[in-house]
This record gives sequence, C-alpha cells and structure tokens, in this order.
Amino acid sequence: MFVVSEEKSKDELLKLAFMNSNLDIEERVVDLLNRLTLHEKFSLMSGKRWWYTKPIERLGIKSFAMHDGPHGVRVDNKGEIQSTYFPSGICRAATWNPELSHKFGVAIAEEIREVGAHMLLAPGINIQRTPMCGRTFEYQTEDPFLNKILTVETVKGIQSQRIAACVKHFICNNQETNRFTVNSEVSERALQEIYYPAFKAAIQEADAWSIMSCYNKVNGTYGSEHEHLLREVLMNEWGFRGFVVSDWGATRTSTSTESLMNAGLTLEMPTENKYVPSILEKALDKNKFTEEILNDNIKRLLRVMLLVGLFDDYSTLPKGSRNTSDHQNLARRIAEEGMVLLKNEKNILPLNMEKTKKIALLGPMLNKRTYLEGGSSTNFPPYEIKPLEGLTEKCNGKIEIVDSPSEADVTLIIAGLRHKRGMDVEGEDRKAFKLPTSQIELITSTVEENPNTILILTGTPVSMHEWIEKVPAVIQLWYAGMEAGHALSGIIFGDINPSGKLPITFPKKLSDSPAHVSERTYPGDQNVFYDEGIYVGYRHFDTKGIEPLFPFGHGLSYTNFTYENLKFSNKKISGDESLTISLNVLNSGDYEGAEVVQLYIQDVKSSVERPLKELKGFKKINLKPNEKSTVSFDLSKDDLSYYNENLQNWIAEKGEFNVLIGSSSRDIRLQGNFEYIG
Ligand code: GLC
Repeated sequence: MFVVSEEKSKDELLKLAFMNSNLDIEERVVDLLNRLTLHEKFSLMSGKRWWYTKPIERLGIKSFAMHDGPHGVRVDNKGEIQSTYFPSGICRAATWNPELSHKFGVAIAEEIREVGAHMLLAPGINIQRTPMCGRTFEYQTEDPFLNKILTVETVKGIQSQRIAACVKHFICNNQETNRFTVNSEVSERALQEIYYPAFKAAIQEADAWSIMSCYNKVNGTYGSEHEHLLREVLMNEWGFRGFVVSDWGATRTSTSTESLMNAGLTLEMPTENKYVPSILEKALDKNKFTEEILNDNIKRLLRVMLLVGLFDDYSTLPKGSRNTSDHQNLARRIAEEGMVLLKNEKNILPLNMEKTKKIALLGPMLNKRTYLEGGSSTNFPPYEIKPLEGLTEKCNGKIEIVDSPSEADVTLIIAGLRHKRGMDVEGEDRKAFKLPTSQIELITSTVEENPNTILILTGTPVSMHEWIEKVPAVIQLWYAGMEAGHALSGIIFGDINPSGKLPITFPKKLSDSPAHVSERTYPGDQNVFYDEGIYVGYRHFDTKGIEPLFPFGHGLSYTNFTYENLKFSNKKISGDESLTISLNVLNSGDYEGAEVVQLYIQDVKSSVERPLKELKGFKKINLKPNEKSTVSFDLSKDDLSYYNENLQNWIAEKGEFNVLIGSSSRDIRLQGNFEYIG
C-alpha cells in the first residue's frame, strides 16, 4: 500500500489525485483511502469534539464540521452565533408545500456554509406515532407519504448547496421516554409501510449523504450496531453511499467496537467511546472485523468529505449566507402557510380592520419566545416576532388594544405549549395531553365574558373538549419561527388566507390514539410494542371508526373550494400501466387562496387487512376567486401495493380500488373507482 509518511507542502498535496476535483469522485476516494495509515483511518471514526471530526494535517484533511438542527443552525449553546429560526418541522409539514421545504433546505444549508460547516443534522423525520412524544414538534407527520415527499425536497435543497443532510434518527425513535435504552418492537410490514418510506426515499430519490443512527433498539438491537438495518437495508438494499453517524453518545450502550464496525457505523460522535484507536487495533488484530469492512466505512466518510468540497477551494463552493432578510422572509412564508385554521364559526375570521374598534390580547404565549429550551433543535435567532409584537404593529393607530375582553369587540387568546421541559422538549415525553389548568380556565372564562374569542395555540396537539364548543375560532400556530408574530397578524386580519393542513391527527382524547392502548404499547418499560402495526394516525382512526377532534389533512380557508368533474384515464389498469386521475377545483369564494387537494386510495377487497384509506397524492394549488384549475394525479401499481411479510415483497392485488379526493382525510369531495387487473 502506498503510504505518504513525510509532511507534504500544500503545493505537493495539490498534485495528489484526491485533491484533483476534475477526477471522478470514486477515484479520489480510493486515492485518499490508500494514503491513510491504519491509525489515521481509526482517528477519522470518532469526533474530536462536539461538532467536529479529527483533522489529518499531513494530508490536508480538515475537520469535518456538522451542526444541529432541524429548524435552525446552532453552533454554540449561548447564542453567540445567531441564525434564522425557521418554523419547526411539524409547522413546515403543515404547509403541505414541497417547494417550500426545498427552499428551506437551500436556506438552512446556506447558513451552515456561512458558519464554515459541512453537514446539517437534519431533517428529523421520525413518524409521529404518539402526540405525546417530546419531539413531535421537531418531526414532520404521522403519514409516510407526506413524510417522504417533504423529506426528499428538504434533502435535495440542503445538498444542492454541497452541504450534507443527515437524516435522523434511523429508526423507530418515536418516543423520548427511556430513549437511550428502549426497544421498539415493530413488525416488518409496519417498518416497510410506515417507518422506512421517508428514509428510503431520502436515499433513493435524494441521495442523502448521511444518516444518523438512533439511540433506541429496534427489535432487540441498538440502532448504531444494527447490521440488518444499516448494512443490509440501508446500504445493500437501498444503495446508500453516504455514511452513518451515531446519535450523540449512542455508542455508550453498544455491545462492542466490532459490532458497530461490522454493522456499518462510520462515525461515533461526539468523541471516542468504542472507536478508541487502541481498541480498534486490537479488534482488527483478532479479526473481529476485516480491513475490507473498515475501508468501506472509511470510504463513506471520505466520499462525503469530497462531495461537500472539503478539499476544494472555498471560493468554488456555493456561497453561504446567514440571518438575511431572504431567509427571514422564507421563515415568515413557511409560518403563513403552516398555520392551520382549525375552526372558524360564522366566519368570525378574518377580522375587518375598519369594523374592529377594540381588541383584547391575552394569554401566556402572547409574548413568550418559543425558540429556547427545546433541546438539540434549539437555535438562537437575532430576533423573534412574538404574537404581541406582530398584532400590536398591525393594530397600531387603527384598532385600540384593551385589557379586558368585556370592552373588546374581539378577544385573541394566545395559549398552548412551550418549547421547554415539561411540555414539548427532547429527552422527555409530554406529561399531559390537556392544556395547563390555568389556560383552560382562562379560555372558558374569557369566552363567557366575550363570545367573540379567537384562540391561537402554540405547540402540538392537545385535548380541547373543555372549551372547543364555545370558542368560535381556533388557529394552530405550532412553533412558527422568528416571524410568527407577523405571519399570525397577516392571517388574523386577512392579508394572508390560511392554507395549512394538519400533518397529524388531533385526537379527542389520548386513549383514542393507536399508541395509547396500554403501557405495553406506550411508553413500555424496556420494550415498547408497536401493536398497532400499520395503523398509525388516521389509518387507525378511520379503520376503527373513531371520530378525531380534527382529522389528518384538515385545515380551513377564508374561501371555499368546489371539486368537480372527476375523470379517470381508464377504468382498468394492468401491470405497470399508470392511471391518470384528474378533477377541476374552483375557488367559489371571495378570497384568493390555496387548497391542498388530497388523494387517498382504498383497496375494496384484499386478502389481507389494509387501512380504510392511504394518502397517495396531494397537490397544493393557488386560485383567485372564480378561478378554476385542473389537478391531476398519476397512480401506478406501487401506489396500490401493500407489503406482504410472507413473500417479503410489495404486492398489488387484483381487484377494485376506490380513489377518494378530499380537502382532508375525512372531507372527501369526490370519489371514483377503477380495477387493477394484475
Ligand atoms: C441529540 C439528538 C440529535 C442531535 C444530536 C447532536 O441527542 O438526539 O438529534 O442531532 O444529539 O446534538
């Protein structure tokens, strides 16, 4: 093996093949690999400190730098380096707008580049199996199809800037209770139909350059040493060419150095625990892993180092930018499209600037920042426009802000959860499904005092039975980022027509949720059993006939949309033929607005149990009043298939399928059927 041992000058290094950006990347990888000594290889496999790998000056290998998080870059824990605080994952998902996710990916990657790093530890895409998970706010959705579409666009956006996305946490990290040791027992069919799709698409459709392995066990083995999940599924089956990085400290619980190496873990973060060079050397000497496996793991990191331009002249790389008005405007757009109008009785919203003379603004979240105390996803923005600031700015000089609801024409209450311990936070699950008692009392007393009360809720799903009948309008604000206050006032006063749709079912009560059948199904003790299988979210509520408080895909608009003229390109398809389904959507109201047209399929008769409906398509369209547009979807065999565990394959069974076109999973406007003849 040709080893360069003496120090080389910069010019000499530049002549080496791996430095030559005109060469094929795989050639550069092999050249670089062959120049590394064994110990240099070992040194690359664990972090130097929190965000950084160890440099190898001799070969000009700089430290590979990575930072959290899923809605904003965080370099330090004091906020010395500020960054754009985008709406959190669930709010971005509620936009149902893949293009916005792409733009978000580009923007946050520009901020990673600007702080001199190479990878973003995001997106976080774990399925929201229970609304009580402490990281529901950080993840996207309960539905695998929506999760897949948004993940692919986010990863493409990030990597378009030659910044590595690190899709996390692989896999079934769906609760924070006992997160370092809990074992998720999940069926193969549920893995294939619910938990895998977004990760698989991230790799096969977006070429994700890194995957973060989870803390928890999956079917008895820890994520970082799970040979089946990493080597067999990710790498061999799905063709993953990037590298696996452990979650921070996840290897503390691993069995051994070799179990991680053989499984395919390339990088242990934040610092060495199992990948201590002396231990690695001993394990290699004892043939506990082969040099071939070692080299494959190393090549994956070298490959991504080359892909992000670690060796390229910085000036040749996509430019970075941070805290720009472009990014802040994008944060506002995502917030505007991610807010969900849950209820709007008697069209109390939008408020009319002329007719509204006095407004009361109340609530514990009226003037609270939401970026702090949320664990690893926290970032520090240069400012945060809280609801009070946004609303005051809007009312300034036009509408008097009064203290008491009884004096006001309209009262706004901003309540809900916070991004902090005891509520929505990494490291623990939520303690209560209902709002704090003080908030329930505030809502019920206020609406008594003034029936024209509008409730805006931060955070994630809560129960509402104490007051939902009395409150005429409710908006789900989530954690809508640093421009939340501006976005909210735009929605309240009608500058913006809400278009958000729920990416997660809002149950009436927690026991209706499929994970909350017993201790065994959540949170488990050392084992949590995903007994619901594929019946996650609306798949459970619909199939079991349980009425949710607000269904998956629900979200109101200030205008109305009429669906008509459903057409099928043919009534039968066979083999790999695709079917085109089209319909017209008319904005039959007075406001310009966007509608998310959703397509669900239903296998009328199948040999195995299947969900009552499954999302297989959606389109977000913007229409002016009286404007009509045609929306079309293509369906093929893959969209009709379920995963057969005996055959270990996807099967589309012959027979009749219904196509349900809806404004939500429960608001089906048109439906038709066709036959798949196999
Ligand atoms: C945390 C999180 C992970 C994060 C990492 C680095 O524990 O689980 O999402 O990226 O450690 O902060």
